Amino acid sequence: MKNSLEHGYDPENFRAEGHRLVDFLADKLKQAMSGEHDFVLEWTEPDEAYAQLDAFLDNPNELFERTWQQCIRLHDPRFMGHQISPPLPIAALAGLFSDFVNNGMGIYEMGVAGTAMERFVVKTVARQIGFDEHADGVMTSGGSLGNLTALLAARSRKAKTDVWNVGTQQPLSVMVSDQAHYCIDRAVRMMGWGSEGVIMVPTKDFRMRTDLLEEKLKTAQAAGREVIAVIGSACCTSTGTFDDLVEIGKFCERHDLWFHVDGAHGGASMFSKKYRYLVDGIEIADSVVMDFHKLLMTPAVTTALLFRDGNAAYQSFSQQAHYLWNEAETPEWFNLAKRTFECTKTMMSLKVFSIIAKYGLDIFDENVTRLHDLAAEFAELIQTQPDLELATEPQTNIVCFRYVGDESNRIPLANLNEVNGRIRYEMMTAGRNYLVQTTLGDELWLRTTIANPFTSRKHFDDLLKELRSVATTILADVS
Ligand SMILES: Cc1ncc(COP(=O)(O)O)c(C=O)c1O
Repeated sequence: MKNSLEHGYDPENFRAEGHRLVDFLADKLKQAMSGEHDFVLEWTEPDEAYAQLDAFLDNPNELFERTWQQCIRLHDPRFMGHQISPPLPIAALAGLFSDFVNNGMGIYEMGVAGTAMERFVVKTVARQIGFDEHADGVMTSGGSLGNLTALLAARSRKAKTDVWNVGTQQPLSVMVSDQAHYCIDRAVRMMGWGSEGVIMVPTKDFRMRTDLLEEKLKTAQAAGREVIAVIGSACCTSTGTFDDLVEIGKFCERHDLWFHVDGAHGGASMFSKKYRYLVDGIEIADSVVMDFHKLLMTPAVTTALLFRDGNAAYQSFSQQAHYLWNEAETPEWFNLAKRTFECTKTMMSLKVFSIIAKYGLDIFDENVTRLHDLAAEFAELIQTQPDLELATEPQTNIVCFRYVGDESNRIPLANLNEVNGRIRYEMMTAGRNYLVQTTLGDELWLRTTIANPFTSRKHFDDLLKELRSVATTILADVS
């Protein structure tokens, strides 16, 4: 009888369990792609999910099968919810590899292969943005952390005093649209700039009103704020609408402000020949964040943070590197933790590199283009349905709409939020189709992100069919 450690590290045991797991997942993928799945989500109440762990513990040999029951299934084409990709199997295998070798990545010898691959991925994204050879960057754990890291570099470059060393005495601010992702507000508060640290620029049709930037800047300065940056959303989270990056870039240039692009979601458009125009102007940004796990088929979390002037990357966490550069010493690109908040991080570069090595960049183009096209198709379908209302023309793979009742039986405006909220909840808990919701102003809208390239017209029809059936039941209850 082996003890637990010997059993746990037993190679033959690993081989057998690994084969079984890959067979299991491949079967699930096959079912999802052939439409044989019953559920995209088998809803379990939180307390119930917790209570079920007793059964998991009693049946360790069924661990993955039982876990699967409680997982939302991204490879199912009926998954149209949040902004996350069904991972390409090769990238998921790269994740397994990364977890097995567990190279810490912080310093070079703790991730030789991953460090070289990270440089490759970063340079690839830089070229795609349109940056020149001076650009550089890092990979980091998510768009939220990427945005914070970019703003730390912005502070280092643009603030009048040395905040890194003396602390924050001045009331610093950034300007961003009122549709920006909440992580910007969070980052600013974490840096100690308070609620006034974010100057919200109003939007029209969910797009930053760049005509208000001058006025907003003057007002902030008159109030004693030191504005250091403007952040363009490419795109915003709720509706997937892109800010005018060209206009924001020009404004930043005129006022010597840092121009950051939060392209966590829509930055991926840079890979699509057809939709590249959406991020026109991104090439004049000082820094760009782009998530691979949102539109580029990579497991979460895998984010690229790019700086047009690669030296800025060394200024997020230490100004000393800036002095090193002034002294003409070469920053060590291969010791990655100098430029990331993480000390240890996963070998996320392998996940992206494996996709590029096997399929080339064309697969990114294909996926992004197809998802954008599908969203346009879904929006067109919605516009032809009298009982549905489209929130706005989609620019990316996000489509927001709501059920308004049929022409002879319109739902009163006052009830729309309640009815649509209930539709969303009933559909989520039924688990046969998956969509989410968002709030635009004070109105609740249904929200879909077409994340799976095998979602088709049939799935849109099925979703709307179920939606109407659920709505009929709810309306009978409401009236
Ligand atoms: C525009 C935008 N920025 C940042 C984020 C946060 O990214 P992450 O979830 O990778 O931290 C999101 C996530 O939805 C987003 O849509």
